[in-house]
Amino acid sequence: MNRTRCDHTPAWGQLQTAFEASGRALDLRTAFAADPRRFEVFSQNAPHVFADLSKNLVDEATQALLLELARQSGLEAHRDAMFAGDRINSTEARQVMHWLLRTPPIDPAMPSQSVHRHMAETLHEVHTTLEAMLDYAERVRADAAITDVVNIGIGGSDLGPQMAVLALDEYVTPGKRFHFVSNVDGHELAAVLKKVKPESTLFLVASKTFTTIETMTNAHSAKAWFEAQGGTDIARHFAALTTNVVAAHAFGISTTFGFWDWVGGRYSVWSAIGLPLAIAIGAQGFREFLAGAHDMDEHFRTAPLEQNLPVRLGLLDVWYRNFHHFTSRSVAPYHSALKRYPAYLQQLEMESNGKRVDAEGQALPYATSPVVWGEPGTNGQHAYFQMLHQGTDVVPVEFVAVKKPKHSLPGHHTLLLANVLAQAQALMLGKADAGGHKHFTGNRPSTFLLLDELNPTSLGALIALQEHRVFVSGSLWGINSFDQWGVELGKVLAKDVEARLSDGNVAGLDASTAGLLVRLRA
Ligand code: F6P
Repeated sequence: MNRTRCDHTPAWGQLQTAFEASGRALDLRTAFAADPRRFEVFSQNAPHVFADLSKNLVDEATQALLLELARQSGLEAHRDAMFAGDRINSTEARQVMHWLLRTPPIDPAMPSQSVHRHMAETLHEVHTTLEAMLDYAERVRADAAITDVVNIGIGGSDLGPQMAVLALDEYVTPGKRFHFVSNVDGHELAAVLKKVKPESTLFLVASKTFTTIETMTNAHSAKAWFEAQGGTDIARHFAALTTNVVAAHAFGISTTFGFWDWVGGRYSVWSAIGLPLAIAIGAQGFREFLAGAHDMDEHFRTAPLEQNLPVRLGLLDVWYRNFHHFTSRSVAPYHSALKRYPAYLQQLEMESNGKRVDAEGQALPYATSPVVWGEPGTNGQHAYFQMLHQGTDVVPVEFVAVKKPKHSLPGHHTLLLANVLAQAQALMLGKADAGGHKHFTGNRPSTFLLLDELNPTSLGALIALQEHRVFVSGSLWGINSFDQWGVELGKVLAKDVEARLSDGNVAGLDASTAGLLVRLRA
């Protein structure tokens, strides 16, 4: 597979020229006035998601050059290599196949379209594992004696299931409460343990590696609490979701659901890591979640680049980061249940594309991952939108709105939709008729993602869309989006500092760490 780094393509230089000539000065208001087709040209239907891209700082000529950039850098071959099961996670020599977790079983009547033949056996394993997990989820759902499910995991082993269980709150079975413990800060676990009883609690220890110190510490404490409270049946009250079944057994957990090293932590909600979601919304709901994501996989895999939503979003990310030099992207879901969606996307983008060297280890001469941040609307409007409208930095905003609400309270939804439309409008239009403090420059870009309703299918599609757009920008940047060596150093240093906190030895420490350590021990 041939990948060419974006800055080594002819299109890169042409984009630079186009940016200087007209891109930098593009005015959205003028662009709309000049082209009555702008909304149509810059909107894109994808499975379960409609996207209005027209309020982005891009014209048709730039979009054509960006698509050229994608072709010249080998995006299609790279994408196809992922779907062929090549070891595109080169620094760990691993395949990248989270998409296989949502691929339907091969129908013997219809020779598979979406899966390479050599993967049939792996796909079979995926479905056997999925069936076992969904069967277990249904048993837990039917077990009225279990009232609390406590997921112990961090990073991808927490954010995915937590985000999805909260987002699909309307679909969650009554009679069960879901808790998520991630932080090694004992306050978090202690607060949950105060609310639950051993005989009615199921602890899910979620860890791909089963070595993560936070998760292991919390799991040990939960088990010690369970036994101290008189709990006996570990097999009934603890289950492990992990690729390291041996370590889970050694820990004393016999109920395990496995997955594979080709599922990255931040891409693992579709695997056994999704068990809390499967318990919450049931086997059928979880299948719909997978199906929505699969529809998006097929769109990404087969739609022409110019009508491919993940591609169009990923190209805008590159345009903004490397030509406009915007440093962040704000995500604003106008649905209160999408509370953890910004945090989920933060890990997805920043752990994947927060890299300073290319796949060969060469330092990059251009910027990669933007900072991703945000809060649900309308809350953000009363906190930081001031800066988005009138601050010195331009921050592209990505709105998510949902057409049909799941409640029947009169007035609320219209008001919510009016607000999200008005914010996008205000960012673009600004307000020129007042000077000084009341002046809004406008021309601030935004993307508008629209779902018909927030349900398991559309959430699956939305999350898969985000995974693939991160793939697209990472691919053009020439980096490996699937490793995360950057989290290792802190882990190693924490081990050293932990020992020093007990014995007080500050020899060889920098003066700041030593000073703080002495204060903490005093
Ligand atoms: O520290 C980073 C990380 O490896 C993430 O990529 C991952 O999602 C998280 O830690 C948790 O890892 P594990 O599931 O192995 O406990």
